Amino acid sequence: MEFATVFCLIISLFISVPCLLKFLTSAGRRRLPLPPGSMGWPYIGETFQLYSQNPNVFFASKVKKYGSILKTHILGCPCVMISSPEAAKHVLVTRAHLFKPTFPASKERMLGTQAIFFHQGDYHAKLRRMVLRAFMPESIKNIVSDIESIAVGSLESWEGQLVNTFQEMKTYAFNVALLSVLGKDGVLYREELKSCYYILEKGYNSMPINLPGTLFHKSMKARKELAQILGKIISVRREMKNNHTDLLGSFMGDKEGLTDEQIADNVIGVIFAARDTTASVLTWIVKYLAENPSVLQLVAEEQDAIRKEKCGVEKVLTWADTKNMPITSRVIQETLRVASILSFTFREAVEDVEFEGYLIPKGWKVLPLFRNIHHSPDNFPEPEKFDPSRFEVSPKPNTFLPFGNGTHSCPGNELAKLEILVLLHHLTTKYRWSMVGPHSGIQYGPFALPQNGLPIRLSLKK
Ligand code: HEM
Repeated sequence: MEFATVFCLIISLFISVPCLLKFLTSAGRRRLPLPPGSMGWPYIGETFQLYSQNPNVFFASKVKKYGSILKTHILGCPCVMISSPEAAKHVLVTRAHLFKPTFPASKERMLGTQAIFFHQGDYHAKLRRMVLRAFMPESIKNIVSDIESIAVGSLESWEGQLVNTFQEMKTYAFNVALLSVLGKDGVLYREELKSCYYILEKGYNSMPINLPGTLFHKSMKARKELAQILGKIISVRREMKNNHTDLLGSFMGDKEGLTDEQIADNVIGVIFAARDTTASVLTWIVKYLAENPSVLQLVAEEQDAIRKEKCGVEKVLTWADTKNMPITSRVIQETLRVASILSFTFREAVEDVEFEGYLIPKGWKVLPLFRNIHHSPDNFPEPEKFDPSRFEVSPKPNTFLPFGNGTHSCPGNELAKLEILVLLHHLTTKYRWSMVGPHSGIQYGPFALPQNGLPIRLSLKK
């Protein structure tokens, strides 16, 4: 990653004077030792190393040197990294109340301060209930054929073209997210929402300077427009008094009542959470299948069998079909493990916490390292090998965390798996593809991605 990008990240993500002060003053209160580790350069810490190296190498070399709990200093804050399954459970589940989610203030402002990710307690529980209601299998069962139409349309538009897989998957994931969040209104307002959303996204990782002309300023403006469009959709729905089973319907229907602003923050937040994550995973799957022809053949055979059964009237995929794709599902699981697109998540200690004989001082960030857990030979033998068959046996408890764990774990995981399965069904039964240009490198942004977003050429099977 370039210097400028890392610099922006530092400024925009975590630098805050209170954070530094907490670090300095907590030193006097320490009784227990801090975990072992190195804090890197003053202030900048080890941020460069984290964002300029292969994350597998960065984390693995640290864990090898210091053990499964270690201290470091990244993105302007002192941190404790933890890499054992038990420790991750401790932070995310058992003692989750001691470790609150934490995000840079600029990100909160951009997504909306009342969005689910930023909260704990009653308000979070209420939102989570509404989000889960919209994304539970019973609700998303009804949109399988709509997702299928989006998948078919996307693939048809790539046929014969050189396409950037990640960019195309982002469009696909965005359209599915709109459908699940706004139902048919998502289609009606798609172009308006899309143009605002794309501007918002561009400024997400920029310097948080809200002056005319800056990316951040443009993003904040686009965010305002998004909220206005959502306000329009909400008021039309109120007038029509129809019941909707999508996420907006869930937010609007709740007896406890959310304000329009709370609804907008959460709609924008959920679309954000749904899009690049799912698109990255799909991009990795396309790569791994191309590199592993024997696995691709097994997937294609499984999907062909489902397609052949559908030669009668009922040609569309059903929820039951998607639950009958064990080989393809294991490919998804193995991709989630190997690619570990979210290498870690952030929490913050709300008080001084004793942990395995060490002190985690109040205010320090705590990072459960999903990637290390997924790449430890203790949990997954030959961890670098792409081998979906390893999931024929369930992984050991707390060792497979692609969707996190505990109260903030991913409520969209069923939808993510569904939309991936539906797209893979049509991709592997109708098309072949080849990767174009170098593809062995990895880009490390917020999500790990194949080099250049994986350009591919797609053609119809003969
Ligand atoms: C393969 C795709 C996806 C992956 C790998 C993924 C991963 C995750 C992870 C690891 C978390 C927990 C973060 C933490 O504990 O700090 C999370 C949270 C979340 N995800 Fe996903 N996600 C995916 C797709 C989706 C989709 C499709 C949706 C919505 C439709 C979604 C909505 C959310 C929301 C709202 C949260 C916050 C939950 C809370 O704070 O209570 N995600 N996701």
